[in-house]
Amino acid sequence: MMAQPAPAARTGWSRKHLLGLEELSADEITTILDQAAEFNRLASKGEKKLGLMSGSVVANLFFEPSTRTRTSFSLAAKRLSADTIDFTAAGSSVSKGESFIDTARNIEAMGVSHVVVRHSSAGAPHLLSRHLKAGVLNAGDGTHEHPTQGLLDIFTIREHRGTLSGLTVALVGDILHSRVARSNIWGLKKLGARVIVCGPSTLIPPDITKLGVEVSYDFDEILGQVDIVNLLRIQFERQRSAFFPSIREYAHFYGMNGERLKLAKKDVLILAPGPINRGVELTPDVADGNNSVILDQVTNGLVIRMACLYLLEQHRRTGG
Ligand code: CP
Repeated sequence: MMAQPAPAARTGWSRKHLLGLEELSADEITTILDQAAEFNRLASKGEKKLGLMSGSVVANLFFEPSTRTRTSFSLAAKRLSADTIDFTAAGSSVSKGESFIDTARNIEAMGVSHVVVRHSSAGAPHLLSRHLKAGVLNAGDGTHEHPTQGLLDIFTIREHRGTLSGLTVALVGDILHSRVARSNIWGLKKLGARVIVCGPSTLIPPDITKLGVEVSYDFDEILGQVDIVNLLRIQFERQRSAFFPSIREYAHFYGMNGERLKLAKKDVLILAPGPINRGVELTPDVADGNNSVILDQVTNGLVIRMACLYLLEQHRRTGG
């Protein structure tokens, strides 16, 4: 049976778009996390299918590959009873020269209320938000932000630890090219966590400390201090030159493996946004081991995306 609309866990959501965590306050981030927790609670009572977006249409516009984000946004919209359009640039009229804006406006013309967009250019969702009437959700823009990934990472940490405040989180790897790193930094800092970024100097932007993070080039040295390690993928597709001598050397200094895990706190949580390069950012025994919450992250992505869609829908339905 379809459950009745659930009230937002907190009031005060007033945004039409979700473009990044940089512009959200701690209260707004907490509103999303609490709403996601409410959807988890309803699901645990068997209320998985909700009528909250009945009559609305969510279009997923993916101009870059995706497994987790695209499928979980699609399932999230379906769980809220929205109709969905799943568009990927490959095989579309983009190959005939149709522009990004024209593509989005033509799909919007089918009665779309919310557009989820992933694009290789930083700022692409912001551009759409100025050209469309629909609400826009950023599903990853270049090296800029991936807000729902940041939110699901933070939700997963909160689920296991109860709070973010006072925790030390290490973001390890390709900080330079990682939109996940930026969204994590904005969200984690706003909720009171200490953040250390760690990796080879070539993969850490020199001005990253302006975001309030600490920098380390020595993974072994920080391991004993951290509560959470988030292992960021080496973004080979965004690297135009070699940033380290070899993959083997990268894995030797910055890969998480069984030996390195012994240097960490016993209850350290291992996160990775996926996809993972097994044997590079982390070894299979760690990825599939007791400290890993990697699949919890994927599970939580569903309720986080439901929460984001629902809050934007509420804003639309109340005439915002
Ligand atoms: N973490 C993440 O964004 O995965 P996908 O690229 O598969 O969506």
